[in-house]
Amino acid sequence: MTARTVAEHFDAWAARYDAEIHDQVPRYDEIHDTVVQLLSLRPPHRVLDLGTGTGMTALRILEALPEAKVVGLDVSHEMLDRARQRLRAHRRRVQLRTANIAAPDLDGLYDAIVSVLAIHHLWADEKRHLFSRLWDHLSPGGILVVADAFQHASSRLLELYDYPRPEDPHEAEHDHLDTAYDHLAWLIAAGFASVDVAWKYEDVGVLVAWKADRR
Ligand SMILES: C[S@@+](CC[C@H](N)C(=O)[O-])C[C@H]1O[C@@H](n2cnc3c(N)ncnc32)[C@H](O)[C@@H]1O
Repeated sequence: MTARTVAEHFDAWAARYDAEIHDQVPRYDEIHDTVVQLLSLRPPHRVLDLGTGTGMTALRILEALPEAKVVGLDVSHEMLDRARQRLRAHRRRVQLRTANIAAPDLDGLYDAIVSVLAIHHLWADEKRHLFSRLWDHLSPGGILVVADAFQHASSRLLELYDYPRPEDPHEAEHDHLDTAYDHLAWLIAAGFASVDVAWKYEDVGVLVAWKADRR
């Protein structure tokens, strides 16, 4: 097997992604419901979406939050091409950019930063570094929502879980799962004032972290 970059992997998957993701990730729509509900607690104006993919998360945010403008970053041109088509009705409120979220070129402040099923493609050190960078680019009181797959904390949990394991070897090659607990600890170390697990089903969960309001 020839190693593929993550961009090559998602470029190759892009045409089938929307048809397959619901089978691969149980409760994919419920994950998005939770992301939108969390953002709706304090409707954001500027939203950053890391690993935009084919644009489902951005679409849900743009439809639910009419004041929101979304900047979407992704390393795969093919995934972003599909996002561009999906989001064309909202094009005045969306900017899509090719970028590596392990070392993103960020500017300005966002009221909300979200990432759905993308950060598990980074290594642990990259995740930790990314969370610190994101803290710098959130406005006071801003929210970070990380919806992703997490490593189970104990293999005993596998007896309860029925989460589908990737069959494509290229997919497993680009999955670097860490526990939900590790993510929460890194978020606290990055400076977030409060962190929580807002939703979880088997190995997939939605973590939320708030930056303190300015006093
Ligand atoms: C499983 S898809 C999730 C897409 C979308 N967020 C969704 O919920 O359907 C993962 C996405 O993350 C992107 N991605 C993976 N690693 C990345 C990186 N280092 N920088 C930018 N994007 C990355 C992939 O190209 C892909 O579009």
